[in-house]
Amino acid sequence: MNDILHLRAPENWINDPNGFIYYKGKYHLFYQYFPYAPVWGTMHWGHAVSDDMIHWKHLGVALFPTKEYDANGIFSGSAIEKDGKMHLYYTAVKYNGLEKENIHHSATGLDEQSQAMIISENGYDFDNFNAKKHIIPIIEDTSIGDPHDCRDPKVWYEDGKYYMVLASTHKKEEGVLLLYVSDDAVSWNYHGRLQDKRFGYILECPDIFEVDGNRVLICSPMGVYKDTEYPENQATMQIMDCDIKQGEVRFSDKDGKLFDYGMDLYAPQSTLDEEGRRTVIGWARMPEAKRFDDGKAWNGVMSLPRVVNVKDGQIYTDVHPMVKKYFDSSKGSRESCYTRRICHIGEGEEINIDEFIIKMVDGCIHTDRTAFVPDGVKLHTKCSTPYIGVSCDLVVYNGPDIIEVYINNGLFVVSNVKY
Ligand code: FRU
Repeated sequence: MNDILHLRAPENWINDPNGFIYYKGKYHLFYQYFPYAPVWGTMHWGHAVSDDMIHWKHLGVALFPTKEYDANGIFSGSAIEKDGKMHLYYTAVKYNGLEKENIHHSATGLDEQSQAMIISENGYDFDNFNAKKHIIPIIEDTSIGDPHDCRDPKVWYEDGKYYMVLASTHKKEEGVLLLYVSDDAVSWNYHGRLQDKRFGYILECPDIFEVDGNRVLICSPMGVYKDTEYPENQATMQIMDCDIKQGEVRFSDKDGKLFDYGMDLYAPQSTLDEEGRRTVIGWARMPEAKRFDDGKAWNGVMSLPRVVNVKDGQIYTDVHPMVKKYFDSSKGSRESCYTRRICHIGEGEEINIDEFIIKMVDGCIHTDRTAFVPDGVKLHTKCSTPYIGVSCDLVVYNGPDIIEVYINNGLFVVSNVKY
């Protein structure tokens, strides 16, 4: 099966993007995948490849449980290339007790989360039986992290060393970011930590990288929108002060922002594209499955690829140039259910794109997707950005499953799933 622009679950369930990498001339995107039903369950990694991050080809399951330590799931993680081989890092999950009526869920929530890896010679073959290594055992020292919530390794190479960030928690009260270091990308040592309320009560999916001379952290703290109409877990972006070599990660004095003000996107992951641009894709959460024409149910869709830049202390995530190029030149088939609208909006003005409403009020962009939320589907309808000014530029990518509004070249983005 193939997909264009927004990569969807091939059927059944997907969540976080994983192992995103440009490797030997192709973009590989893995994702959290439950292959049996359109609901979250024992996690596998599904796999898709692309030449351009526009046309995706689904390749089925890449990683699946085979070991005692990953018996209940291959949770999120990342990819690097080393010595020409693809190295995938993931969180291995073993439940302490299964739910009686659904063995794909933990009975206790007190599960064992440790870190593992698998090396593939070519990025297509994954020997789940013989090529896995268990690299970081369960954390026992609770002054460092939590044995039950320690996950989502993001690995990168820098100045002769390999580094890994992991997400954890202090007593499920405050999120924790952990840093590990390695000489060979296989043996890892604890290197530093940051515990902060801005990481919610548990942190998920941290991703640290350098862009335009700044160190940016994109991460997914749990609970930061508690007691609101929005999903309580939201992905954020922040410029950090780091001395990675010394194991130091700190918040800077710059304000953070949401990865996306539509409140649907979560767990974004970045990689460097073929031209060295920092490119990121997020998962759009869907409260209900949709159906393909053949009746098969699917749940979970990825955002368009975006490029991260920092200008004047502000993080921008504009749509990837390949998407722009595609819309500059495309016509036909499934593509025709996509439109791009480039416009300008001023204070008090309203734009209606297929009944998706975009307004500028008091200097902020407000969106309303009421027309796309059927009765009985539990979804917030209205969103708004922080203050922008008296007017702004908009580029709106409207697809069959999700609409993405890019404001002032990605200063803010508002993406909403559609039914
Ligand atoms: C984020 C997340 C990750 C975890 C994965 C499990 O959505 O909860 O922290 O690795 O999903 O599917």
